[in-house]
Amino acid sequence: MSVAKATTVRAKSRGRDSKVTLSKYSFRVKYLRKSREILRRFNETKPWLDQLYTTFLGLRPGMTMVDVGCGTGDFTRRLATLSKGRSEVIGIDSNADGIAAAVADTNHNRLSKMISYRVGDAYKIPLDDEYADLTCCRSLLIHLTDPLKAVKEMVRVTKNHGSVAALESGRMSVFFDPNDESYSELFDQVQDALFDGIRKLEGKHIRIGDRLPGIFQAAGLTGIKAEIQADGWLYTDPRRRLADLRQQLRFDLSMLEARSKIDRKYLIAGGMTDARINAYNRQTMAKTKMLLSDDKKLRNDPSLYAASLFLVSGTKIA
Ligand SMILES: C[S@@+](CC[C@H](N)C(=O)[O-])C[C@H]1O[C@@H](n2cnc3c(N)ncnc32)[C@H](O)[C@@H]1O
Repeated sequence: MSVAKATTVRAKSRGRDSKVTLSKYSFRVKYLRKSREILRRFNETKPWLDQLYTTFLGLRPGMTMVDVGCGTGDFTRRLATLSKGRSEVIGIDSNADGIAAAVADTNHNRLSKMISYRVGDAYKIPLDDEYADLTCCRSLLIHLTDPLKAVKEMVRVTKNHGSVAALESGRMSVFFDPNDESYSELFDQVQDALFDGIRKLEGKHIRIGDRLPGIFQAAGLTGIKAEIQADGWLYTDPRRRLADLRQQLRFDLSMLEARSKIDRKYLIAGGMTDARINAYNRQTMAKTKMLLSDDKKLRNDPSLYAASLFLVSGTKIA
């Protein structure tokens, strides 16, 4: 399962949906809470990620941090926890509902002494110049039509010699079902067409990862560095609990239904035919339901989905 995994089923009508974007759908509190819970459980099988984030972002106690486009605050809380106390983290998001959920979840996790939230725009961050030691974002720039403008704002609110960082999805991804090569090819086509369609219709790069060093350089940052977080999603993986796999599949199925109309317009713009989209929807639905109906088949399914997150940072030297 991927945060940006392509999902479609048969569309009933097209007109009304032209205004709904995949981005807007992904900003909903219900979507964010559920997808981040699944991601968090998956990440628990990868304890080395804590070390990657801590060393790459230079996390330490006493830091001032800003998480731009924080959504429901999942990454904001991780930053606070990894900096090991007495740090100050501010989450910023333009969606007031997301901020309200972030505040509630942060209180629930007893982290509100370290974390506060503000409603605000990534293009006009409501903070003074040189406010933070580290300004970062996760899965924000993929949704923006002008990511450079947002990164320049992140640079503005960062202290001299401080860091700006982004964790965003990249082009390295693959799906392969050894028992169904033609479905594997179709899956790849759907992914490519979805992201191509979004770029054509909305000017956003959902696989922005490889562009980040160039954007950071254009924003005036120096000492730019990059790591790639590669994730392999596999049902046979004994590190993953059966309950988590089933939760992921149920979520995928609900996404198939909920995003069908939205995804179809991108897929058509990305060059797919209705017939191919219908074939993909049918096969995905059938496979997901089959896996959900039989735990033994689920645990023995060797389909591999792999995806990448690009972690890029740069230093501000005024
Ligand atoms: C895909 S979510 C990521 C949330 C969070 N960073 C995470 O990784 O869980 C993208 C978030 O960016 C926010 N966002 C989109 N455009 C924004 C803007 N111009 N200014 C501030 N926030 C924005 C959305 O409201 C949404 O909460």
